[in-house]
Amino acid sequence: MTEKRPETAPETSSAEDFTLRDATIRDAAALDVLWQAAGLTRPFNDSHQDIGFALAGPASTILVLEREDRLGASVMVGHDGHRGAVYYVSADPAFRHLGLGTRIMQAAEDWLSAQGVWKLNLMIRPDNEGVRAFYEMLGYEVEERIVMSRRLKD
Ligand SMILES: CC(C)(COP(=O)(O)OP(=O)(O)OC[C@H]1O[C@@H](n2cnc3c(N)ncnc32)[C@H](O)[C@@H]1OP(=O)(O)O)[C@@H](O)C(=O)NCCC(=O)NCCS
Repeated sequence: MTEKRPETAPETSSAEDFTLRDATIRDAAALDVLWQAAGLTRPFNDSHQDIGFALAGPASTILVLEREDRLGASVMVGHDGHRGAVYYVSADPAFRHLGLGTRIMQAAEDWLSAQGVWKLNLMIRPDNEGVRAFYEMLGYEVEERIVMSRRLKD
């Protein structure tokens, strides 16, 4: 279990050196470190609340790739009874371009397929347009939609 991130990154040259598993609530601090390093946290989102909620029910989980007690990549994956979704797709900056992002996305797709889900939607923030090339490389296409939302709680 990864309760905090070791300071030193383990030596690695391949995504295959990492072990895939479901996160638990004890990974919350390490996930927060990873997501901050990946630039995914926002003041208006409570990542600890997000982690607890994603791990609470059968329709969602958080998958991680780990090596020597250090999280290398993560994805929050779930479905709403119709479509699958991923959030917090991230690879530790110390291990970029090794295939971790590809592997964690494959794990999310496998998880959804095992749940009977046949389509995955994901959102990219406008200030992160560059990551589009990553998803396109994985076979994702841009669909013209307007995403609307409303907070149901302050
Ligand atoms: C996106 C991310 C998870 C990719 O992780 P990764 O482990 O480096 O991905 P891979 O090694 O599997 O990448 C394979 C290919 O995808 C493309 N790619 C990867 N990251 C990319 C990025 N940030 N922008 C554009 N293309 C990217 C490249 O073509 C790369 O091939 P290369 O290694 O030969 O250059 C990682 O860059 C990250 O954590 N980014 C910050 C968080 C983020 O933006 N998440 C997505 C939110 S919608």
